[in-house]
Amino acid sequence: MLISPSLLSANFIDLKSDIEMINRSEADWLHLDVMDGVFVPNISFGFPVLQAVAKHCTKPLDVHLMITDPGKFTSQVRDLGAYMMNVHYEACPHLHRTIQQIHTAGMKAAVTLNPHTPVSLLEDIIQDLDMVLLMTVNPGFGGQKFIPHSIQKVQALRQLIQRTGSKALIEVDGGVNAQTAPSLAQAGVDVLVAGSYVFGAENPEQVIKELKTL
Ligand code: DX5
Ligand code: ZN
Repeated sequence: MLISPSLLSANFIDLKSDIEMINRSEADWLHLDVMDGVFVPNISFGFPVLQAVAKHCTKPLDVHLMITDPGKFTSQVRDLGAYMMNVHYEACPHLHRTIQQIHTAGMKAAVTLNPHTPVSLLEDIIQDLDMVLLMTVNPGFGGQKFIPHSIQKVQALRQLIQRTGSKALIEVDGGVNAQTAPSLAQAGVDVLVAGSYVFGAENPEQVIKELKTL
């Protein structure tokens, strides 16, 4: 299992210590949640903070844009040195073009689905994607309760990927913890995002290590 801890639940007064912990840990990526207060009912952090984080983090950056018109920021995300750029299906009327722009900029491209958006809508874009991020809570806040129906969506996405021969990874985001992670792994998830479960733990490195074994 690949693990992408979400910085949203880190200690913002001492981000450096948390990034050093991530660097030391077995985490595969660092998940960065950008919110604009329009696409989601919350605002997190923007490019000045991301640039500082990118400078100190040695893990590949998994940037999750919860913003309207995310394609507009492709070159700014690329300039961070980001590995993966995640854009929401619901925020991209010209999704195919946006995915092409992300690839042209030299990044991996992922499409994120809100809990109400069916996996079947990816039928005609799945072959172009490096990853699909399924929201397992409504986006905007850390520490929310996992939506159980998400398990069926992971299974449906796994089937779509197999049927089409797509190489896309499956990532899930929201409410991932010791209770929910095993069934997600069993349903076919490749990458777990975990915010409050990792950063709220007494020993975050141990939590990451345990999630990795799933
Ligand atoms: C929520 C964000 C998540 C968030 C997950 O909108 O996309 O990445 O940090 O937090 P937890 O793991 O606490 O549910
Ligand atoms: Zn996220």
